[in-house]
Amino acid sequence: MIEYLTYDDVQILPKYSEVKHRSNCNTSTKITKNIKLDIPIVSSPMDTVTGLDMAYVMGYYGGMGIIHRFMSIEEQSDIINQCDLGKNQYGVEGLQSGAAIGVTGDFIERAQELVLEGCSVLCIDVAHGHHKLVKEAMRRIKNEVNGQVDLLVGNIASKEASRDLCEWGADGLRIGIGGGSLCSTRIQTGVGVPMVSSILSCVAVADEYDVPCMADGGIRNIGDVCKGLGAGADTVMLGSLLSGTKESPGSITKTGVWPNEILQKKYRGSASLESKSDRGESKNVEGYSTTIPYKGKVRRIITDVIDGLKSSMSYVGANNIVEFHSKCEFVKVTNSGINEAKPHLL
Ligand code: XMP
Repeated sequence: MIEYLTYDDVQILPKYSEVKHRSNCNTSTKITKNIKLDIPIVSSPMDTVTGLDMAYVMGYYGGMGIIHRFMSIEEQSDIINQCDLGKNQYGVEGLQSGAAIGVTGDFIERAQELVLEGCSVLCIDVAHGHHKLVKEAMRRIKNEVNGQVDLLVGNIASKEASRDLCEWGADGLRIGIGGGSLCSTRIQTGVGVPMVSSILSCVAVADEYDVPCMADGGIRNIGDVCKGLGAGADTVMLGSLLSGTKESPGSITKTGVWPNEILQKKYRGSASLESKSDRGESKNVEGYSTTIPYKGKVRRIITDVIDGLKSSMSYVGANNIVEFHSKCEFVKVTNSGINEAKPHLL
């Protein structure tokens, strides 16, 4: 059996650097073959993470929001339309948005409407992307949907899946099975692959096809963002880090009495019982839901992540993301190393 590693198991080796100041590091990247981003951050298509407000802010800062699909075709395409209007009215360069679709039911009609409204990336959003239904859905979208759009496809976790999806014509891969913060797939089914090894194996194959990769799930801090990109991902997808913000869908709940009020927002897995019940489903529950403290505006989180990423780039002497990929070398750490990595004075 091969040893598979995840974020906590590795650290990035510092290297000789000529980067004068971290602010000079360029974080531009690609989410898919034809779509460039200024920053490698993408918000997850979950109904407590990406609606209009999140998609707008992500696009504004040069990343991308993938609008979730648990709403009517009209609602979802209206959100894409509003992002597009924002681009035209305010001249915000680079404001782009993506949208999630499934592989059954009305997905072709949904895809067509979204593309007509200006969607630049369609994300085929299923739990197991290495599947015949995904292959057929990709073929149908390519044949039946008019207009230019890139296909981001997932989720996958193996090099075989990476090769097949590239052969089927994916423009971007979404990597990560069972690593999400609210995910219970590994507990319910025993299936999953630790994130760093998963990214390394998928990227090795996707590079042969020039298909960009996204690291999705399990990113808990800025260090994990850097490790995901350092392992070869071109973008990271964030759920929990962006949840509970002003821009995430859902209302703020207040408990307690002033001045000791606690403000919270909901964060729920797309396959949680709560989320499934809302869609009239109850089987194959593979996720949890929770409430988390309200975090305020997402802008601060984006800024912090990019600042940390630029520092990481300067530690290895990388001026841009492509150099970061080639210069990042991981060392495997022991449990003592994991403990040492955390603040441990107290
Ligand atoms: P983080 O760790 O950023 O992960 O909160 C977000 C990613 O988790 C995935 N996701 C799920 N996985 N059951 C799962 O097994 C779920 O209910 C679920 N909901 C979201 C998804 O890939 C997301 O981007």
